[in-house]
Amino acid sequence: MQNKRFPCEIAVWRILPTIRSEIAKQLASLGLPQMVISKRLGITQPAVSQYVTKKRGMTFAVSDEAQTLIQSLAEDVARGKDLNLNERMCEICANVQGNDKCTFESISMKNRLRTLKEENNAVILAHNYQCAEVQDIADYVGDSFELSKIASELDCSTIVFCGVDFMAEIAAILSPEKSILLPVKEAICPMSRMIGRNDVRQLKKRYPEAPVICYVNTSADVKAECDVCCTSANAIKIINELDADRIVFVPDRNLGDYLALKTDKEIISWDGFCPTHQMITLGDVLIKRQEQPDCEIVVHPECRPEVIAAADFVYGTGGMLRHASRSTARHIAIGTEVGMLHRLATQEPSKEFTALTNAICPNMKRTHLEDVIHALEQTKHRVTVPEDVRKDAKKALDKMLEMGV
Ligand code: 13P
Ligand code: SF4
Repeated sequence: MQNKRFPCEIAVWRILPTIRSEIAKQLASLGLPQMVISKRLGITQPAVSQYVTKKRGMTFAVSDEAQTLIQSLAEDVARGKDLNLNERMCEICANVQGNDKCTFESISMKNRLRTLKEENNAVILAHNYQCAEVQDIADYVGDSFELSKIASELDCSTIVFCGVDFMAEIAAILSPEKSILLPVKEAICPMSRMIGRNDVRQLKKRYPEAPVICYVNTSADVKAECDVCCTSANAIKIINELDADRIVFVPDRNLGDYLALKTDKEIISWDGFCPTHQMITLGDVLIKRQEQPDCEIVVHPECRPEVIAAADFVYGTGGMLRHASRSTARHIAIGTEVGMLHRLATQEPSKEFTALTNAICPNMKRTHLEDVIHALEQTKHRVTVPEDVRKDAKKALDKMLEMGV
């Protein structure tokens, strides 16, 4: 396997991250807020904060010339110039290492990725919240439902799932014969950890007549215990079609409250929530209304009930994209994870999109281009589900795929 390793691995793992940290420090010294630095460099705010407070930083000496290149790149990023960050960092990296040792000249990361995809017969899926560099190299970018459907239909040997753990797990449940890779194993959805299998068993004992629907943001264990899965794109349809007046819905209480408003059924919700969507407040909506009265406000159903009540439209990420293409509004503000801004701007370049607040899902932002390359080089981190759990969880997912739009 030695010849499959990325030739520039040392640079990717040691030099590029430290260059990124130097740029973050320069941007902070130019007065850019950490939130903006995080967005421009595609790294999490805690990482920016560590870089800026010098807890992380250069682990090797650099020449004056490399320092000048770093400063000039930081200035371009600060000006918001349209640039290829990775390419510019590679240039600096080549300078740091000595140009004769640089392999990027002959083999760019994208070329390397193309070769690895061919060697592994792999397809790359990315959720709408992934950072721009990952969305841009993915074969498919979509919402949870679209990606589950694609994963079930793909004809390939390997799927690299750029998203969070439950998404890769869904692909492993639907296609156990494929190698499903989650590039960063720490990319987990905290909401999916807010309920366990025993909790669902207790709910079933308490409400024996009510079907249990689980949001796909759950573990395979929880799915195995439920009657049917749903995403925000198909939850209303699935609930309406179930032959029951009372439904147990897990784990998102905000989505549960929204579904209770949109259907005639009684919804018994679990008390989970998405920490990222919880950050978006009614104040953010009111400020936006005051600042830009002509702006349309579209929020995700994982938001707090008062945010949903004050918004103009409520959609999951796929619905937001469809809404953006049919809306006549020139300016749309979104209440969801900020990765959507890149997706929306790419699809609808003539419209203006802003975020109600800088809601970042740190787990969705863990994956970078180099992680995708590394995942394919080392076949990691392979996601598998024990066969007994997989079979039961698959029943709930298959039912969603049959019933979903
Ligand atoms: P979508 O199904 O709308 O893509 O949302 C997934 C998710 O994790 C929202 O936080
Ligand atoms: Fe989970 Fe929220 Fe991140 Fe979606 S945005 S993956 S629900 S933590």
